[in-house]
Amino acid sequence: MGVAMNFLPLIESKRDGKILDPRQIHDLVRDVTAGKIPDYQLASFLMAVFFRGLNTEETTALTLAMRDSGDVLKFPKDKRPLVDKHSTGGVGDKVSLPLAPLLACLGFWVPMISGRGLGITGGTLDKLDSISGFKTLLPAKRITEIVQKVGCVICGQTDRMVPADKKLYALRDVTGTVASIPLITASILSKKLAESLDALILDVKFGCAAFMQTKADARKLAKAMVTLGNQCGVNTRAILTDMNTPLGRAAGNWLEVKESVACLEGKGPNDLHKLVVSCAAHLLVQIRKAKSLSVALKQAEDCLKSGAPRRKWDEMLLAQGANLDAFKRRLALDHIAPVIIELKSTSTGYVSRCDARIIGEVIRDLGGGRLTKETKVNFDVGVDQVAKPGDEISQGAILLRIHAASKTEARSAEVRLSKAFAVSAKPPSLPRLISEVIGN
Ligand code: URA
Repeated sequence: MGVAMNFLPLIESKRDGKILDPRQIHDLVRDVTAGKIPDYQLASFLMAVFFRGLNTEETTALTLAMRDSGDVLKFPKDKRPLVDKHSTGGVGDKVSLPLAPLLACLGFWVPMISGRGLGITGGTLDKLDSISGFKTLLPAKRITEIVQKVGCVICGQTDRMVPADKKLYALRDVTGTVASIPLITASILSKKLAESLDALILDVKFGCAAFMQTKADARKLAKAMVTLGNQCGVNTRAILTDMNTPLGRAAGNWLEVKESVACLEGKGPNDLHKLVVSCAAHLLVQIRKAKSLSVALKQAEDCLKSGAPRRKWDEMLLAQGANLDAFKRRLALDHIAPVIIELKSTSTGYVSRCDARIIGEVIRDLGGGRLTKETKVNFDVGVDQVAKPGDEISQGAILLRIHAASKTEARSAEVRLSKAFAVSAKPPSLPRLISEVIGN
């Protein structure tokens, strides 16, 4: 191992608003990965980037160097394009679960490397960990084997993938430097680029339960990620989607797995169905397997209806070690949590608000999410049968069901959740689920 670079001139350059060259950024990432830069200097550099920003060339160099800081998945040459989706996260966002098998059935290879939830944002791996026997931590060789055999895999990042991001993110988390668009962009895309993708669809959420609360901020992040993804050789598109209300009618790990299976069986909620089919359709257009979005939407709809993605889901579960009989027995149960209570409407009219932030916070506090990375998650708790904006509701009808570990927790959740809803006399005007598409 060579001698570490003198890091001070880089901190001073960025502090003074200068542009770093790709070589400097490459050496910086190399030394971060090797643990040669003290945290106090790295923290100071991150703060300089937070205030001064990085231009597209600097962000590209950072992203590629981070990608190359560890293992990059390798696949043999094949006519099936490698694709994935990334969501900036929200409440009830289970799109990855039905999307991966749908994409596999549409002729893609899908190495879907996902993350865990933190705070009110659910994580795909936590949802899958609610399935008995299902393994989310796989070595790179097994990930590529399953993709070639089944067509899709959903698993976590290996220890050896993008180690530079692990170090940088841990430090950003405790130095107030997470909310920097170039750093977020490099962090997210370096992990996606390590999958060796041909095309990527980004679901950038805005609203009260999203990472980016305003549409303007979500658009800024989406544009930066689309530019960078394409610059790095991956056909990248983004959609901006509403996260003021939860996606679907269930939130909480196991309840979301159930709703994902319902979606694969054509019985899922409309918004989830629409988002899953739309993500698949955009990828079909991006990779030129369809001439237009309307043709692609029909192709994705027909594929989902055929039942093949539902069978592919079982195939993926088996390949990742799940006990299918136990899974089917659990699916047939109405609930797993010991206590269920119904929150009822006190008036008749139309649901005009169903606040995803309040619902996300309550589920986290019921034990379904993490306050810190170390929190042990209760997979069985959450909410289902959620009434959504626009639904007609009578006094005494169910606004949602609470699945809790104890009566006391259920009652305290009920009080808080009653504030998540508003019912109005007239139907509310509903926001569009997908409000913009960014990229070619
Ligand atoms: N998610 C990531 O993976 N990285 C960020 O920087 C922010 C969100």
